[in-house]
Amino acid sequence: MRSNIVATYLTLLGAAHGLLAGASTLHYDCHPFVIPIPVTNIPIFVLPFPAPQDQLQATSILNAATARTQPPQSAPHLLNLTATYNISGEYCWPTNIAPVSTSPTLQILSHGLGFNRSYWDFRLLTNVSDPQYSYISSATSLGHHTISYNRLGIAGSTLADPSTEVQTAVELAILTALTIIARAGGIPSQPAVPSNVIHVGHSFGSILTVALAATSPVLSDGIVLTGFSGLFAYQSNFLISTNLLIANHADPARFPATQYRNSYVTWPSAASNQYAFFAYPAFDPAVLTQAEATKQPFALGEIFSGPLIPSVAPAFKGPVLYIDGEKDLIFCASNCTGLIEPGSDAFKAFNGSSDVSSIIVQGFGHGMNLHYDAAGKVYARINGWLKGHGF
Ligand SMILES: *[C@@H]1O[C@H](CO)[C@@H](O)[C@H](O)[C@H]1NC(C)=O
Ligand SMILES: *[C@@H]1O[C@H](CO)[C@@H](O)[C@H](O)[C@H]1NC(C)=O
Ligand SMILES: *[C@@H]1O[C@H](CO)[C@@H](O)[C@H](O)[C@H]1NC(C)=O
Ligand SMILES: *[C@@H]1O[C@H](CO)[C@@H](O)[C@H](O)[C@H]1NC(C)=O
Ligand SMILES: *[C@@H]1O[C@H](CO)[C@@H](O)[C@H](O)[C@H]1NC(C)=O
Ligand SMILES: *[C@@H]1O[C@H](CO)[C@@H](O)[C@H](O)[C@H]1NC(C)=O
Repeated sequence: MRSNIVATYLTLLGAAHGLLAGASTLHYDCHPFVIPIPVTNIPIFVLPFPAPQDQLQATSILNAATARTQPPQSAPHLLNLTATYNISGEYCWPTNIAPVSTSPTLQILSHGLGFNRSYWDFRLLTNVSDPQYSYISSATSLGHHTISYNRLGIAGSTLADPSTEVQTAVELAILTALTIIARAGGIPSQPAVPSNVIHVGHSFGSILTVALAATSPVLSDGIVLTGFSGLFAYQSNFLISTNLLIANHADPARFPATQYRNSYVTWPSAASNQYAFFAYPAFDPAVLTQAEATKQPFALGEIFSGPLIPSVAPAFKGPVLYIDGEKDLIFCASNCTGLIEPGSDAFKAFNGSSDVSSIIVQGFGHGMNLHYDAAGKVYARINGWLKGHGF
């Protein structure tokens, strides 16, 4: 079974235009799965404000979060969480390399805020056979296998409480558990125990990936951080551009209140999406339109629980690649040049690794995979780095 969107649209296109040959140009198969993941005694913050009752309160939370001064920090109120969540993912492997590898390199892909795992296999619905935005197409062309998953709080996976459950330490515990299962070959339809596991993140997914390298350094053999600089000072630009719109008010048809409680928030428009994720003119406006039409809400819990997970990984020994768009708004205030270099916070975070590198992609913004020729400008360089490190 191929991933749903691609399979469905290839079938439609094939039926409509006799293009079934196009389908066979996909050189990988993806096997969707949903697995229950238990998490035990994970610390959560009791947020210092109640879940917003209405948009007035949500906007007021944003005012406070982006104020010039912050009130003195009282000791955060912590609780422990024990729960089991359904996590929706897919396992992909190349089909043009036979037989299926018995000891593949496996990449585990964690997406950022505003997306689901389709970020890693983005296909313009008007041209689904075009692989220029598909990270999974590039990774599998290297012979690697991939696992991508919808993070907690993304439809398909459990839409848990967005204040008290969808928080950083819980999402880290899920990534850790998923990695332990995958290292043992236990993901449904997983064909082989991997020889190596590489973790790849985008944005918030990169933050979780750093935390995994910090807390369970032996679980990863190499780290690729996209849309991330190790600097946290510019995130208020993103927050402000979202207006913290309550998702079930902003788009009740897509985000009904019965599923999306008030602390699930989103941004208002394609213009805000462009502001935070895209750098003009390096993208196809049709991609922006589709990204906006398929955007996912994020949770107040996950953006206000940053301090619960580490942002430096001195015990991690493996190689690390940072790759970011020159014009990343969220992590560089739209100019990454000079910020991800030896001596920077990014490099210091991995001071136990003998091998930290960085690449700045000219003209690209934060949502790197959604810019023109991401395959040539981003993925080919990641593949080159991976090959150069023996993966
Ligand atoms: C949470 O769990 C940890 C680990 O089991 C334990 O050390 C800690 O005391 C617990 N904290 C609370 C507030 O229950
Ligand atoms: C997980 O999925 C099962 C089967 O659909 C369902 O019964 C259960 O309630 C789900 N659990 C959560 C926490 O979403
Ligand atoms: C679809 O994508 C392919 C591969 O990038 C490209 O050659 C072709 O021109 C595209 N077709 C349309 C209609 O945009
Ligand atoms: C991602 O979100 C879009 C829009 O809601 C949806 O159509 C698609 O099925 C989702 N993909 C996955 C893998 O959850
Ligand atoms: C980006 O920052 C670098 C280093 O500070 C500077 O040299 C360069 O001119 C800046 N680029 C733009 C477009 O402002
Ligand atoms: C590496 O960084 C950690 C903090 O992240 C620090 O405690 C440690 O002293 C550093 N090690 C070296 C060798 O600089």
